[in-house]
Amino acid sequence: MKSSQPNGKNGHSSSSGPSDKATGLRKLFENELKDIYWAEKALLKAIPKMAKKATADDLVTALQGHLSETEGQVKRLEQVFESIGTKAVAKKCEAMDGLIKEAEEIMEETAEGVVRDAGIISAAQKVEHYEIATYGTLCAFAKTLGEEDAVSLLQETLDEEKEADQKLSSIAESFINTEAADEEHEEHDDEVPVMRKKK
Ligand SMILES: [Fe+2]
Repeated sequence: MKSSQPNGKNGHSSSSGPSDKATGLRKLFENELKDIYWAEKALLKAIPKMAKKATADDLVTALQGHLSETEGQVKRLEQVFESIGTKAVAKKCEAMDGLIKEAEEIMEETAEGVVRDAGIISAAQKVEHYEIATYGTLCAFAKTLGEEDAVSLLQETLDEEKEADQKLSSIAESFINTEAADEEHEEHDDEVPVMRKKK
């Protein structure tokens, strides 16, 4: 038999006023900051591995460029913590941990060259999209909480992540996906035709 909540409480306090809500949001904001702080630090180790395994020059350059941006993003997060009067603490981000593990798997399972490059781009874009979602949310929370310094710092990083994502898209579109398809096509000539590289 299901036991009922003590004193008939359902876990939702009926007496929570606006200040309780602000406290709740602040806690959520701080937790998400700790989470992305862990994620960015994990990326400092993961991005060089991806750059090392990549072949195409523009992909290697993009990853190396984003590595130095990420170093700046870690420092910027420390400024955010400082601006809200909280110690910079990292809390393991299970989502980013999973995305990095997936990237490692892709790199192990693909042959060096255009196919692995396409896999690296796909993994890197998943990372960027996670970060875009997180920084977008953090910006909105900071705005609501009236943390103007944090808003501009977080917005700066959000813009960098969006740019990094677009750069990856244009690298993929310019040649990698079609080259990877070409390679597959050569191996399986009897299969359906694939998109050819644009000249
Ligand atoms: Fe980042």
